[in-house]
Amino acid sequence: MKSLDDIFDAVRKGIDSRSLKAEPAGLYDPIDYIVSIGGKRIRPALCLLTYSLFKDELDDSVLTPALALEIFHAFTLLHDDIMDKADMRRGHETVHKKWNENTAILSGDVMSIKAYEWLCHAGEEKLPAVLNLFNRTAAQVCEGQQYDMDFEDIPAIPMKDYIMMIGLKTSALIACAARMGAILAGADRKSAQALYDYGWMLGIAFQITDDYLDVYGDSKVFGKNTGGDITNNKKSWLLVESLSRASELQREKIFKIMEMPASEAPEKIREMMAMYDELGIRRLAEMAIEEYYNRALYALKPLSLSEAGYAGLKEYAVRITYRKK
Ligand code: IPE
Ligand code: IPE
Ligand code: MG
Ligand code: MG
Ligand code: MG
Repeated sequence: MKSLDDIFDAVRKGIDSRSLKAEPAGLYDPIDYIVSIGGKRIRPALCLLTYSLFKDELDDSVLTPALALEIFHAFTLLHDDIMDKADMRRGHETVHKKWNENTAILSGDVMSIKAYEWLCHAGEEKLPAVLNLFNRTAAQVCEGQQYDMDFEDIPAIPMKDYIMMIGLKTSALIACAARMGAILAGADRKSAQALYDYGWMLGIAFQITDDYLDVYGDSKVFGKNTGGDITNNKKSWLLVESLSRASELQREKIFKIMEMPASEAPEKIREMMAMYDELGIRRLAEMAIEEYYNRALYALKPLSLSEAGYAGLKEYAVRITYRKK
């Protein structure tokens, strides 16, 4: 069983040793840029972690497919930042700002193709199962992103729709990472499913944390400009929960704030945060995050794990749930 530090180290080395530079530079430079400026790299790490529950040596047949998850994720970020009109990512300018939107679209496209190229390192025997899982996941991410956009134009949505949406846009890929490690290690179906469920619940906690940090994070540490979700009327956990708890008068006030244009962003953010304070939303979000973190650990019950195995999965869960960036 590898330590989490060793796993993140293996991911870093794996990325550093694969060149993403090629011609034409206009297509490949933005890829090298977004991948080398970092990011937490939690998805390849999770794949290697679940693999190492069953097998010790991290060879190319798991390392390169794990990195495929990272490059696919980074591709979704390039497109997401256009959709969300975001200027900052990983502490630097977003690709569509530094270059332009067409570049972010096309570099993103070729990144998704690169992801498939790297997945193929899984080897003949494992590849059908890996592709099957990955294809389903990639479609789910797009479905989630579409719901996310659709919801911007709906004044209020039920919490269950929000959970469904973030399950698709965020949990699916994290759960896929957990399951892929198990598949590549030749684990049984029951174990693979339990790890998938763990990843799914963790993904929910992860996205609620992301929504939380979008309001309460320190943008220098978080690496993204805060307040973007409020500006864009995103149906974040904070907004969905606020609307479900608000009195008639408070609801009216929230809808008024939502009508404020992006040109009045600082004012809009201030007023929405005041509503969140009035409703005690910050603390409620922290409780929701903890609830899904607990559900993730509970999902591991069907697995017969070694003590070190369970500790590794718990350490990973803590690290990605209780974070500042
Ligand atoms: C950002 O993902 C998009 C979400 C699903 C919230 P990460 O928070 O993993 O971003 P990086 O890869 O660390 O930059
Ligand atoms: C993005 O959710 C999920 C995907 C990229 C699929 P967000 O839009 O909240 O992610 P950030 O905050 O821009 O990283
Ligand atoms: Mg988005
Ligand atoms: Mg975004
Ligand atoms: Mg976000």
